[in-house]
Amino acid sequence: MSEPTKVYLKDYTPPVFAVKNIDLDIKLYDEYATVYAKTAYERKTAGQFVLFGRDLQLQSIAIDGQALDTADYAVDDETLSIHHTPDEFVLETVVKIVPQTNTTLEGLYQAGSGDELMFVTQCEAEGFRKITFFPDRPDVLTEYRTRLEAPKRFKTLLANGNLIDSGELDDDRHFAIWHDPTKKPSYLFACVIANLEVLSDTFTTMEGREVLLEVYATAHDIDKCHVGMQALKDSMKWDEENYGCAYDLDRYMIVATSQFNMGAMENKGLNIFNTSCVLSSPETATDERSFRVKSVIAHEYFHNWTGNRITCRDWFQLCLKEGFTVFRDQSFSGDFRSKAVQRIDDVALLRSAQFDEDSGSLAHPVRPESFVEINNFYTLTIYEKGAEIVRMMATLMGKEKFRQGTDEYFRRYDGQAVTVEDFLSALASADERASLFLPWYRQPGTPVVSGDFVVNGDTVTVNLAQKTRHVAGYDAPIALPIPVDTAIFDGKSGKLLAQKMLLLTQDAQSFEFEGINLDADSRPVVSVLRNFSAPVKLEFDYTNEDLAFLVAHETEGFNRWQALQTLINRWLAGQTDDASFILSSLKPAVSKLRESDPMLAARLFDLPSQKELGMAYEENYDPAKVKARRDELVQIIADGLADVVGDWYQALPLVAYEDTPDARGRRLLRNILLDIALTAKIAQADTWAYEQYQQAGCMSERFGVLSAIINHDLPRKAEFVADFYDRFADEELVIDSWFSVQAASGKTSVADIAALMQREDYDWNTPNRVRTTLGALSAKPVQLWSEEGLQLYLSAIERLDKSNPQVAARMLGGFARWYTLEEKARTIAKQYLSQLQQVVSSKNVLEVLGNMLKDK
Ligand code: BES
Ligand code: ZN
Repeated sequence: MSEPTKVYLKDYTPPVFAVKNIDLDIKLYDEYATVYAKTAYERKTAGQFVLFGRDLQLQSIAIDGQALDTADYAVDDETLSIHHTPDEFVLETVVKIVPQTNTTLEGLYQAGSGDELMFVTQCEAEGFRKITFFPDRPDVLTEYRTRLEAPKRFKTLLANGNLIDSGELDDDRHFAIWHDPTKKPSYLFACVIANLEVLSDTFTTMEGREVLLEVYATAHDIDKCHVGMQALKDSMKWDEENYGCAYDLDRYMIVATSQFNMGAMENKGLNIFNTSCVLSSPETATDERSFRVKSVIAHEYFHNWTGNRITCRDWFQLCLKEGFTVFRDQSFSGDFRSKAVQRIDDVALLRSAQFDEDSGSLAHPVRPESFVEINNFYTLTIYEKGAEIVRMMATLMGKEKFRQGTDEYFRRYDGQAVTVEDFLSALASADERASLFLPWYRQPGTPVVSGDFVVNGDTVTVNLAQKTRHVAGYDAPIALPIPVDTAIFDGKSGKLLAQKMLLLTQDAQSFEFEGINLDADSRPVVSVLRNFSAPVKLEFDYTNEDLAFLVAHETEGFNRWQALQTLINRWLAGQTDDASFILSSLKPAVSKLRESDPMLAARLFDLPSQKELGMAYEENYDPAKVKARRDELVQIIADGLADVVGDWYQALPLVAYEDTPDARGRRLLRNILLDIALTAKIAQADTWAYEQYQQAGCMSERFGVLSAIINHDLPRKAEFVADFYDRFADEELVIDSWFSVQAASGKTSVADIAALMQREDYDWNTPNRVRTTLGALSAKPVQLWSEEGLQLYLSAIERLDKSNPQVAARMLGGFARWYTLEEKARTIAKQYLSQLQQVVSSKNVLEVLGNMLKDK
């Protein structure tokens, strides 16, 4: 097998030609489409004229009105080269494409069916080259004029920018012409040809300009767009207030489509969203989903400044837009609920998924130095760790300095395609410590911070050390700047005595807190890494008593939660068999918080996932053993709460739906308590479950209990599973959840999952549907690593490798730590992965498998 070609950051060269503008004319017919492109080029440096293009049938080509001879140019699978060109010229090409059979969901493709048939584009990262020949790279920015022509049954014709003209044509066809006055890279191009309804509103910017806001969805779904519309308005206001960033065009459109590889895409003025990330109503979306919708809308909107107006020089700089924008959407979301809960969620994702990636065979820096297929690099490392780096700088600089730095970034680089270094240099203009953070972008692996403290009179010395594993293929790790937010409490009175943001920059360092005046007979309790001030693994020398103290007294919500998590982790890791610390901390904390902050109370029950626990093993990992230990703790906690859980559950009656943090917290806590009551085998718990299902007033109430009924295999399970399906049979997204809740249950076998995948309504061309079962299977390591599990999962990958390689490659991520399994399972896993390597052909999947199997 030939090695797929790698691209290197060090090989970057500026574009040879600039594009002055482009006129596109896309004509859709029943079986194909044609794309006419008229592009004005201007030479910038010496070099050949080469454009990218894939799966395009070239129909005609001319320079300055003069048709080219076949000897004048060369076309291969990836490029079009013209041997001789003037330094300035206009190129005209016509290509034929077939969106109707494009299952990759990249470029222009068909989505939906019947009345809901539509055509949409996805151009990031390199999809524009599947629409026409172009220098499809993020540092070539230009102005687009787009004409769309299609049969009138597609009444919706949209492209970026402003609508210039529209009208009727012969043969029941019509057209629309759009012009985007801002210069943008091709990955931000979008168009939509569909038959959609629209929800409209307006927003007046701080500069006093009125912007038309439109959310497009099918007639069936248009009533589920109000949450998204409100989120859009909230985001626009938030970005003005927090970053001084206002929207620049007259119109902002969002289009919902049911077939989409990712969550959503920030195309200039014309975002395209997976229905799962925009549709929401109390009846059809859980609170979790509805909150996600708001954060994705915010994320894509925030890209208008961090990504679109200032874009990436090359794809190695992807974290420049994604990491920063994730940090921005996390901050936005934190302003709409408890900041501690937001942080808990973000850290939980980081730890369960990004740490996993960073500890396995797919580890890479936040700014990678090489890749085969850029689509494989939209990873948790680039997004989540990328966001953490920005957060560390923001935390260290403080609100005012950070704002000064971002203002400078927007002032300096607006309209440009830039690098991580540019970003850091703008921030460093406000606080030069920002420039210390470059190594965080270059070094893979999660740092481990260890520490303890000593007391000497009224001085407390905190000792910290850091270590990062050496990832093969990279330079030996160096010490990174690690902000460690630290507080000292009086162990008796619970009073906060001191707080400092420590900055660990060496391998080991000591920090002194002087003048710590304790109550008589008291001891200091030190709390480090408050609010998870850096993306590291912490091994601090807390006693169990200190941790219990922090659960009760820490004033910072995240570390309060973390203290309990640490106790839980110690038990799960077998460092102790005494669960009394957990119960005696958990019970009073929940009892105290269940009224005042039900959401945080609910989160205190969090346990690390099975997958996350598996990360502790570098070898001899036995998923069944890990699961058994975890199940045991679930039972211990439930039994320990058996005397109160019924009362707590009943103290939370179902009430009329409200979308407030408190109401969402109560709904979550109620579902968790019900689950615990069932685990504890409380006599009436089954009845409570059936009643809650029947009386549910919203999806959170109904779905939470359906999940409990399935997970606990209650006697009337089949009846409720069927009822849920019938109630929501015409709501695709709800049926997705119906698939995933069954697939995720510990009571569902691999064979049961296989049966779900055989159903008529399991559509292999809709990534959302495929993810329901495969995603659930990968969260159940015992089943995933069994022979049947591997067989089922990897045969699905083999199939997707042909139809949708992007999705296929993404779904393989969960196998990165196969080599840590105990001997027998490891041999089988290797055999299956190697077999897969023989039968797949996409470079997406081959790159991932190659990395996974290399040197192993
Ligand atoms: N730019 C991405 C979408 C994208 C990713 C396009 C990969 C092409 C390839 C978008 O801004 C994004 O990051 N979307 C996320 C959701 C977000 C809230 C983190 C997604 O789609 O998962
Ligand atoms: Zn993004």
